[in-house]
Amino acid sequence: MKTIIYTEYGGPDVLHLQETEKPGPKSNEVLVRIHAVSVNYGDIIARNFKNIPAGEFNMPSLFRILARFGFGFSKPKRQILGNTFAGEVEMVGSDVKQFRAGEQVFGYTGEAMGAYAEYLCVPEDSIIALKPSHMTYEEASSVPYGATMALGLLRKVNIQKGQRVIVIGASGAIGSAAVQLASHYFGAEVTGVCSTQGMEYVKNLGAATVIDYKKEDFTKNGESYDLIIDILGKGSFSKYRASLAQNGIYLPVSFKTSKLLQMIRTSVSGGKKVICALATPNQADLEFIREFFDDRKLKSFVDQTFPLEKAAEAHSYVEAGNKKGSVVLTA
Ligand SMILES: NC(=O)c1ccc[n+]([C@@H]2O[C@H](COP(=O)([O-])OP(=O)(O)OC[C@H]3O[C@@H](n4cnc5c(N)ncnc54)[C@H](OP(=O)(O)O)[C@@H]3O)[C@@H](O)[C@H]2O)c1
Repeated sequence: MKTIIYTEYGGPDVLHLQETEKPGPKSNEVLVRIHAVSVNYGDIIARNFKNIPAGEFNMPSLFRILARFGFGFSKPKRQILGNTFAGEVEMVGSDVKQFRAGEQVFGYTGEAMGAYAEYLCVPEDSIIALKPSHMTYEEASSVPYGATMALGLLRKVNIQKGQRVIVIGASGAIGSAAVQLASHYFGAEVTGVCSTQGMEYVKNLGAATVIDYKKEDFTKNGESYDLIIDILGKGSFSKYRASLAQNGIYLPVSFKTSKLLQMIRTSVSGGKKVICALATPNQADLEFIREFFDDRKLKSFVDQTFPLEKAAEAHSYVEAGNKKGSVVLTA
């Protein structure tokens, strides 16, 4: 089967097309013929992991050390990237009950990756579900990552109907899902913050207001928010405190140890809070997302598609920072 392999860390050109053996499912596994795999933040980080300076790794140092064990110190342990995919079940193991050959599915493999290939085997109880029937494989492929992360994080902050939520990084994978879930599922009034090229895209997701961070600093607009979601964690509690409503929450989705300490401090002081949370998606979350998409309340936008063999080009495109919606490899 066609596979994109990388055997050393580095720029997009470390990604190479290679023929590898087609896997066969174990008794509890589903063999998926992958039709679309979305290029996400994790792929870019994992591809160049050794060369990313500690300061640019936007989670606590301990996570970086653990990730180095997971990914490999001098060269990648797992040589196939890709963790958010859509495809068709080709075959199931003898004990599989939930899926049948011919069904269209989508899923998320997390750090196990492995989806930059024509075939992938995953356990039937992993994060895999039937694909929303009205979506193409390309549209569906980015959803399992972005939407399950956004759902998990929004549930952790107990968001209420009518609350005012601002999402900084609203055009990315997690941010775009957070805008849609916060407005269409939780009933919040959502403001999205993104760069100029993402404005129309974020508006179409359902944001009541969109702010271009290159032109306007939302902390100076006099508005207050019950929840500030900061996807890349580039802001700070001190910067956003005045923009938080009484008992408002600052939720940095990416956070360093200093923000964890602020979370502890604000948890005992009462009033405005910092909450650093990790989403821990599961199959039930993805099934919920699938139903929600099937009701057509949630959308997925594909910015660009590239054939699998052009994975290096797709990575260069994502790294250039111009994507609005997902960038998808098709196999
Ligand atoms: N807490 C958790 O459980 C959890 C789980 C998964 C991932 N993460 C973290 O989430 C992050 C990746 O999120 P993602 O996959 O959504 O990334 P993504 O798809 O790359 O999106 C990030 C977005 O941030 C925007 N952005 C860049 N600079 C900005 C700025 N100065 N102000 C406002 N927006 C800016 C970019 O849009 P523009 O083009 O508009 O600038 C981009 O669309 C990583 O840091 C990862 O560690 C956390």
